[in-house]
Amino acid sequence: MGGLSLASSLSSQGMRGTIKKESFGKTTGGEQIELYSLSNKKGMEVSITNFGATVVTLKVPDRAGKAADTVLGYDTLDGYEKGTSYFGATVGRYGNRIAGGKFSLDGKTYTLPKNNGENTLHGGIVGFNKKVWKAREIASKAGESLEMTYLSADGEEGFPGNLSAKVVFTLPAERNELKIDYTATTDKDTVLNLTNHSYFNLAGEGNGDILDHVMTLHAKQFTPVDKGLIPTGELKNVGGTPMDFNSATAIGKRINESDEQLVFGKGYDHNWVLTRAGGGSGLLVAAEAYDPKSGRKLEVLTTEPGVQFYSGNFLDGAKGKGNKPYPQRAAFCLETQHFPDSPNHPNFPSTLLKPNVVFHSQTVFRFSAK
Ligand code: GLA
Repeated sequence: MGGLSLASSLSSQGMRGTIKKESFGKTTGGEQIELYSLSNKKGMEVSITNFGATVVTLKVPDRAGKAADTVLGYDTLDGYEKGTSYFGATVGRYGNRIAGGKFSLDGKTYTLPKNNGENTLHGGIVGFNKKVWKAREIASKAGESLEMTYLSADGEEGFPGNLSAKVVFTLPAERNELKIDYTATTDKDTVLNLTNHSYFNLAGEGNGDILDHVMTLHAKQFTPVDKGLIPTGELKNVGGTPMDFNSATAIGKRINESDEQLVFGKGYDHNWVLTRAGGGSGLLVAAEAYDPKSGRKLEVLTTEPGVQFYSGNFLDGAKGKGNKPYPQRAAFCLETQHFPDSPNHPNFPSTLLKPNVVFHSQTVFRFSAK
């Protein structure tokens, strides 16, 4: 990558893959930031920075074995410090929106900073995506892992409780997948919704739009929203609507229809309720995306109850890596999560985290090509 200093470069040879650490520069506040590159023997390479516990590059082979970087982002730390799109970041303490920047817990009303019209989005003004995380490399027989930890103080961005968050990224030696394990504990009742906000373009970032990518979402229902993108509380069947992706459908096929939900979202920007036969919270395939041109396929597996499929509607042509413009719909996100605004919807799966309970969730981005 251009603009990187190799001064503090360090390589460690794991059992089957490698982790390389290099400087990603200093924040405007003077904090040293690192970039870690994990690679395996199957041609996959992922780089992650401890600024926002952010996935910076994600290189995977196409059907001819040629690797391309499939995620949007920036070449330098500066881009991530200034950016407003959450490229690749770990989002918290509460991913997606909380209506009116308010929720009640144990009889007390908490007021959060509003950073998205009347609402709070992705944890507030300075979310986890803008925090400096502590990183630790872990090598095992199974592959290479990078652990990121962050302590969010009681009252940070209005949320109660000291929250200790841990995100472990693993690149298995023998499979092209990025596994993300989230754990968290708190010392007071709080609400929590952690996700990763990678923007994928399976043809390679900066390579046109994703309207021809074919999407499958394993969900029979979604949570309709109002014009501020706040869920109405209803779980609506997708059948007969442009939200039905139970069979593989090109993202662009229905995206410009006059359906009210698509108008509110300026495209897809909704939470799908994952179909969990018999309930439970095991790891299941939530979504599959396929790029017919390159043959690259992404499967998203998760233990979470929902996935936000966002079709990059707010991208505006601002420049990213290699000075390439990222126009509207240059990428899609599949943000595995609890439902938006859950603290204000008792009928949604609960996002309450209590002291002495360890929160754990897992999401896997699995790649193949054919
Ligand atoms: C999520 C939201 C979108 C948008 C993006 C970031 O997907 O639902 O509305 O805020 O994050 O731009």
